[in-house]
Amino acid sequence: MERTWAISGIDLHVEVGGTRVARSLERELRAAVTGGRLPAGTRLPSSRTLGADLGIARNTVAEVYGRLAAEGWLESRVGAGTWVARRPGPPPAGADAEPPPPPALDLRGGIPDPSAFPRGEWAAALRRAVESAPADAFDYPDPRGAAPLREALAGYTARARGVRARAENVVVGHGFGDLLALLCRALARRGARRIAVEAYGHGRHRRIAAAHGLEPVPVPVDADGADVAALEGLDVGAVLLTPAHQFPTGAVLSPERRRALVRWAQRRDALVLEDDYDGEFRYDRRAVGAVQALAPDRVVYLGTASKSLAPGLGTAWAVAPAGLVPELVGLRELSGAGHHVPGQLALADLITSHRYDLAVRRARAVHRDRRRAVAAAVAGLPGCSLSGPEAGLHCPLELPAGVSEAAVSAEAARRGLALEGLASFGSGAPERGPAMVIGYGAPRPHLFAPALAAAVAAVAAHLP
Ligand SMILES: Cc1ncc(COP(=O)(O)O)c(C=O)c1O
Repeated sequence: MERTWAISGIDLHVEVGGTRVARSLERELRAAVTGGRLPAGTRLPSSRTLGADLGIARNTVAEVYGRLAAEGWLESRVGAGTWVARRPGPPPAGADAEPPPPPALDLRGGIPDPSAFPRGEWAAALRRAVESAPADAFDYPDPRGAAPLREALAGYTARARGVRARAENVVVGHGFGDLLALLCRALARRGARRIAVEAYGHGRHRRIAAAHGLEPVPVPVDADGADVAALEGLDVGAVLLTPAHQFPTGAVLSPERRRALVRWAQRRDALVLEDDYDGEFRYDRRAVGAVQALAPDRVVYLGTASKSLAPGLGTAWAVAPAGLVPELVGLRELSGAGHHVPGQLALADLITSHRYDLAVRRARAVHRDRRRAVAAAVAGLPGCSLSGPEAGLHCPLELPAGVSEAAVSAEAARRGLALEGLASFGSGAPERGPAMVIGYGAPRPHLFAPALAAAVAAVAAHLP
């Protein structure tokens, strides 16, 4: 009985009226099916449920279903239910104009392999967290994020990345872009008009800044990271940087520049947005801690679960100076966005039980091995070399002068591989020699070797 109830209790909006109820219901249902509101495969409520919902006899509904089934609009099976029938028909309009499928092989930068998401551990953490949380946890949430997650992140970022963090200063966001948007709006409200960004980076982040009131102004990047001295001449209220592992050139911000950056921010009363997107992924035992520890009142530290778990979780965090938190909370409330509490509780469970550390270590081992496989595969390409430290999910492959990045990308595409040139991440004219960004984090395990082979072949085809 319960099974029948569960599958028959389906809501369906139909307006019936007048004296000829059966006619009215039939007309409404036929129109809903032929008009596409109820597409093929849609399950309909049982005649008992729909009759009760509409205040009409069950038999009246059964008769109408029967007539529409006889015409071929519906299908019924005794004991199983009634559906909108699947009918062969012409392909939907515009079917030929569909975009081509993406290439099967992918070495784009900054993208982790979503098949590595630890589903079982996440599902177990979600169950543990949801079952043990007090009822209050499911009330309207704290705009900064769920308290257990903010506690867990304060502990984790302090322990693993050297951040000066307290739970009150942690703000959870829907991915890095969400927090960047909030921060840009807060800065714009304080009167800032421009934000310095690294000359190479995500175009999307530059567009987010612009969409939220701050014009991005590029600063050059070299082997020591962003050229911090170049900030001196700029009229900007903040700078967005990737100090631990510049995206996508791979450079690490030198200790001198880290100190100069903080001095600049203090002198200019400016804010540093420290994007630590892959700070946990260092393979040469030379991990650099967060710049934030040098000046917690000037630096907003930003981390994400996209690389350690999966981008689809859409979870990132900021550790912000105390004075900025109320502004971020105010803007968060105005944004109308809510938080998905169960997911936050699950992440808190993973972090406090140290399973998150295990996930990071597993991902680190995979990416370290892939980085080394890339190094071995490109060793035979004359005039080419990898640059940057053994870190992260990508590395630039420097090409001999004169080789066209666009030609290598096009050659890779012919081999079914998505591969980007460094210039495609630039915000202006290229500042350095040609290079391809090898995003070795992206492929599924069985596609890594073919993707790498395609990249090597595409580069080899264009070497002088
Ligand atoms: C430079 C950089 N910053 C931040 C992020 C994290 O963004 P999100 O949290 O939206 O995945 C990424 C992810 O690709 C990145 O490459």
